[in-house]
Amino acid sequence: MTQRRPLIAGNWKMNCLRADGLALASDLAAKASEKGALGCDVLVCPPATLLSEVVGVTKDSTVAVGGQDCHVATSGAHTGDIAAPMLADIGARYVLVGHSERRADHGESSTDIRCKAIAAHDAGLVAVVCVGETEQERDLGATLSVVNGQVAVSVPDGATAKNTVIAYEPVWAIGTGRTASVEEVAEVHTAIRSELVKRFEDGNEFRILYGGSVKPSNAAELLALEDVDGALVGGASLKVEDFWKIIETC
Ligand code: G3P
Repeated sequence: MTQRRPLIAGNWKMNCLRADGLALASDLAAKASEKGALGCDVLVCPPATLLSEVVGVTKDSTVAVGGQDCHVATSGAHTGDIAAPMLADIGARYVLVGHSERRADHGESSTDIRCKAIAAHDAGLVAVVCVGETEQERDLGATLSVVNGQVAVSVPDGATAKNTVIAYEPVWAIGTGRTASVEEVAEVHTAIRSELVKRFEDGNEFRILYGGSVKPSNAAELLALEDVDGALVGGASLKVEDFWKIIETC
């Protein structure tokens, strides 16, 4: 039985002005410090405007901070973008790459995501590689082929269980309140695990997170699944009490 340490990650997306964001981060850090040893790793991914200050308010706690994206280049003429070394420079330890909202809003391909993951690794960051099918792809019965294809291309050859986390987020479950059933989650996570084991020596050690309407009410049944090693939480991570309840499920 592999002991993969769960990771509960909060993706704040394009939310939180400064006062609310710093209060959220401070409250979470205080809870983590008060609790002491946690049953999981905890990560928050604030908007870029708050990254540095959130690192500051969480630095004495066990809460890690991550970016929500990074550019493939280390510097240069890329207006509005953030390079992975910049994230590492301010104390971020993780970065999300390939979130479905970036794949959709910015036309990011799995090849783009692989290059971003490599840039993250080169900067010493843990890449959280996001994959997931759309409702149309699920309705066509293409879920496993789509997700396995995304994993095959988005996860670089240099990935290891230490520098890469996979996040399965069915697009139709994100922000909709429609959480995938435990059967649907188990099927996809098992398929992702199988692909990782076939490709990587430490494939069984990679953490695979589930994301898509994770709430305190459904976290326990999701996190109890064999190949669910944590959660990537959107809406519920913006309320410290809800996010904390999910963390305490581990
Ligand atoms: O990255 C996590 C996010 O996509 C899930 O959002 O609001 O469904 O938990 P939500």
